[in-house]
Parts: sequence; C-alpha cells; structure tokens
Amino acid sequence: MIRFAREEELEKVNELRKEVNDVHVEGRPDIFKPGFDAVLRDYIYEIWKDPNKDIVVAERDGEICGVAVLNCIYKPGSPFMFPRDFMDVDEFCVAKKYRRQGVATELIEFIKKYAKDKGFQRLELNMWEFNEGALKFYESVGFETYRRYMEVKL
Ligand SMILES: CC(C)(COP(=O)(O)OP(=O)(O)OC[C@H]1O[C@@H](n2cnc3c(N)ncnc32)[C@H](O)[C@@H]1OP(=O)(O)O)[C@@H](O)C(=O)NCCC(=O)NCCS
Repeated sequence: MIRFAREEELEKVNELRKEVNDVHVEGRPDIFKPGFDAVLRDYIYEIWKDPNKDIVVAERDGEICGVAVLNCIYKPGSPFMFPRDFMDVDEFCVAKKYRRQGVATELIEFIKKYAKDKGFQRLELNMWEFNEGALKFYESVGFETYRRYMEVKL
C-alpha cells in the first residue's frame, strides 16, 4: 500500500533515510559525512511542516518499507529560461529486505499520479553516478537523463 506518512511514522522513515545516506557515504566518502546526526534526523520534521513537501511511504505486512520525499518546485523565469515547475523526488529508498519486489515501482506510480493530479507535467530527481542500481531502477520506470554534472579529480 502506498500512502502519505503519518507523524508517528517519521522515526521509521528516518531509518530509511539513513539507509540512503549510508549508500551515499559508501559511494562518495569524499563528499558525504558518515553517520546520521541529530540535524539530519530532525530535518524530517522540517519536511513534515513544509507545505510544499510531502512524505510518501510504502507499507507491506504492516511495516513501512519504502519512502520518498516530494517537493513542489516553482522556478521563476530568467533571461535564459522560461519559468518552469516540476515535482522533485528525493530521499528515495526501499528497505533492503523488500527490494526487487516492485515496491519502488509502486511508489513511483503513486507519485506520477499525485504529481499529475496537482497539475505538474514533469517529475525530476538527481542521483549520484556511482549508484548504478538506482539508475537502472529509475530508467526502468521511465526517467531519462536530461542534464549532467561532470567533474575531473585533480
Ligand atoms: C533503487 C531502489 C529504490 C529500487 O527499489 P526496488 O523496490 O528494489 O525496485 P523495484 O523492485 O521496483 O525494481 C523495478 C526494476 O528496476 C530495476 N532495478 C531495481 N533495482 C535494481 C538494481 N539494484 N540493479 C539493477 N536493476 C534494478 C529492475 O529492472 C527491476 O525489475 P526486476 O526486479 O523485475 O528486474 C532500492 O534499490 C534502494 O532503496 N536502494 C538504496 C537507496 C538508493 O540508492 N536510493 C536512491 C537514491 S538516488
């Protein structure tokens, strides 16, 4: 079942947020700080209070096993660009023991419908290049790369 989180579930949501953080720490220890300190933990309550953000969860066997944080973005125009809006998907995670069972696919289906119902025509997300499993997953549900960050290590 996919639905919006309840306040009393936010600590469980944090366990999943920590899983994502651990993936990032392992993949880019030069960028991400290890651990999951109080600032990161409490940030879920800022998200909870933000009227532009939503926390969606997947529940299986009475357990919260997946999460996504949604952010409604409204970008003003600039001399280069037209104004644009989209729904950004962040902090996306399925608990290890529930992976490869279609949970993330169901989350994205729910998010696509919700975003459409709110009048958005695009979903957007960013991800780290080392995270090949996540890339395969996002591509499997229709995401395409439309912009890149590049680096050269010196
Ligand atoms: C990425 C993630 C959310 C996918 O969740 P999931 O519930 O396992 O995904 P699904 O079961 O819906 O997968 C659907 C399809 O995506 C592809 N896919 C998913 N995970 C994959 C992986 N690790 N490697 C290759 N393909 C993968 C497959 O085509 C899969 O279909 P199949 O199982 O029939 O082969 C999950 O692996 C995860 O939480 N990873 C850790 C956190 C993370 O990296 N989050 C993203 C941060 S940007």
